[in-house]
Amino acid sequence: MEIIRAKTAGFCFGVDRAVKLTYDLLAQGRKVATLGPLIHNAQVVADLEAKGAVTCPDIDAVPDGYEVIIRSHGVPRSVYDKISTRSLAYHDATCPFVAKIHKIAMEADKNGALLLVAGDADHPEVQGIVGHTSGPVQVFANPEELQKLLPTLLQQESIYVVAQTTFRVESWENCKAFLKKECTKARIFDTICNATWARQQEAEDLSQKCDHMVVIGGHHSSNTQKLLQVAARHTKAINVETADELDPAWLAGAARVGVTAGASTPSSIIEEVLNSMSEEIRDDMSFEEMLKATEA
Ligand code: F3S
Repeated sequence: MEIIRAKTAGFCFGVDRAVKLTYDLLAQGRKVATLGPLIHNAQVVADLEAKGAVTCPDIDAVPDGYEVIIRSHGVPRSVYDKISTRSLAYHDATCPFVAKIHKIAMEADKNGALLLVAGDADHPEVQGIVGHTSGPVQVFANPEELQKLLPTLLQQESIYVVAQTTFRVESWENCKAFLKKECTKARIFDTICNATWARQQEAEDLSQKCDHMVVIGGHHSSNTQKLLQVAARHTKAINVETADELDPAWLAGAARVGVTAGASTPSSIIEEVLNSMSEEIRDDMSFEEMLKATEA
């Protein structure tokens, strides 16, 4: 069995930045509180907590004397106001790709435009984006939901359209094509981040060459689940959070397996999954095959 690891697998720029910032502050002996789990990876969050970080559901829960870390997903403007009311020190790890969408939302607000967001309304990134305008907002999750909004859109004077940074690329292209045809007054901003474009494209290519795809990442990680959807279009695909979840029986009979990982998956977990897959291959080999594979 051949294993091909995607070049884009693992931490993206924004997650890497937030994780390094938090570890640096902890190493300096600072007391830090993150608003929600810093990233969608239970192992990294547990390690940060073991080193003293506390995970708080909101600003009210941050203990006095702690410095707040705003995670890469960003937060609504109201959270900055609450931080200021409590005079808390804070570090803003909002990914620059997300911060750019916040600026577009503020611009929509200033111009009295409807903000139309392609994304998951329950996702913290989308809630942060929506929380940067006090004007009208509509969120849609796919082209079908967008089509249903058309009567409302046609009544608007001005519309700004953005996408959650991890939105599925193919779905976004369909939404753009629809808006360009049916609602020409919409100003569309391409806000899917570079890391998402590259990762989904590689998953698309790899899944067409492989019998099976293993997507490593959090079961609740939005970008991991999108990768799984992309891979599953072309081949058998499975999502595992850790090496323990990988059932060797699932890989039986595969000649070529592709491996990719979400933006919150640390390289240590990717290595563990790859190692356990390699062990399975060795267990399946005959003694002659083993000799050949290990020959210098
Ligand atoms: Fe930023 Fe994109 Fe990662 S928005 S946090 S680089 S997935």
